[in-house]
Amino acid sequence: MRLKDKVAVVTGGASGIGEAAVRDMVEEGARVVIADISDESGEKLARKLNEDHNEKKAVYCHVDVSNEEETQKMVKTAERKFERLDILFCNAGIGDIAMTDELKLEKWQKVIDVNLTGVFLCIKAAIPVMKKTGGGSIINCASILGHVGQAQTASYTASKGGVVNMTRALAAEYADEGIRVNAVCPGYIDTPLLDGLDENMKNHLISRHPIGRFGTPEEVAKATTFLASDDASFITGANLLVDGGYTAV
Ligand SMILES: NC(=O)c1ccc[n+]([C@@H]2O[C@H](COP(=O)([O-])OP(=O)(O)OC[C@H]3O[C@@H](n4cnc5c(N)ncnc54)[C@H](O)[C@@H]3O)[C@@H](O)[C@H]2O)c1
Repeated sequence: MRLKDKVAVVTGGASGIGEAAVRDMVEEGARVVIADISDESGEKLARKLNEDHNEKKAVYCHVDVSNEEETQKMVKTAERKFERLDILFCNAGIGDIAMTDELKLEKWQKVIDVNLTGVFLCIKAAIPVMKKTGGGSIINCASILGHVGQAQTASYTASKGGVVNMTRALAAEYADEGIRVNAVCPGYIDTPLLDGLDENMKNHLISRHPIGRFGTPEEVAKATTFLASDDASFITGANLLVDGGYTAV
């Protein structure tokens, strides 16, 4: 029960890595606000966790992370329902694949709005509430593509590179407030985000991971819970690669 009595917000918590993180944090004793735009799956997950545990372990809150008002409401929901906020997992994200000379400005902007500005807005909303109780742990979901490049991913790599370095800046900024800021940087993980890839592409990408497979959402969730917990009390500004060795070769 490494997160006993802690309260967490997980953005993009209704699917994939976010859903696995919500489940793992609840298993470790936390109460969780699931923040997403996917209302049906988010509500369903909260209901299931509350039924399974026979107490209020999770609430769902509709939040578009690129909307400042909604991120403020998300943090207020944590305070109203669970009275505090200790952990923020900024995980909501979207992908895009396009040649840069054909990439429409609106599509570029959308990816930056959700993946980078969304992280900024969620953290901006959370910091004042974390300060009230003397600190907290923020984990951002970046990517291997915040560390290495890949063709046809200009907007995505730019957003994740931004998250990697913003993580370092905020770690320095809030260390004396007791707030740690870290990131997990997954390799390719088997979630709905990969649904658009054909089999050839999937096999090619698998071959880039020395471990020889895609990761699972649960494997990223375990690393996230570690960073969220007091086991990581001297870790801040770190970008933890969870990538099966992708960036090692
Ligand atoms: N799957 C991978 O291979 C992989 C690799 C590296 C990093 N990541 C990162 O992991 C994170 C989670 O991705 P996933 O693979 O679990 O994908 P996913 O599509 O399964 O889940 C993403 C979730 O984010 C939500 N979301 C999308 N836009 C939102 C918005 N504006 N506001 C709030 N919620 C929003 C979606 O509804 C969905 O529930 C993303 O940041 C992604 O970039 C994924």
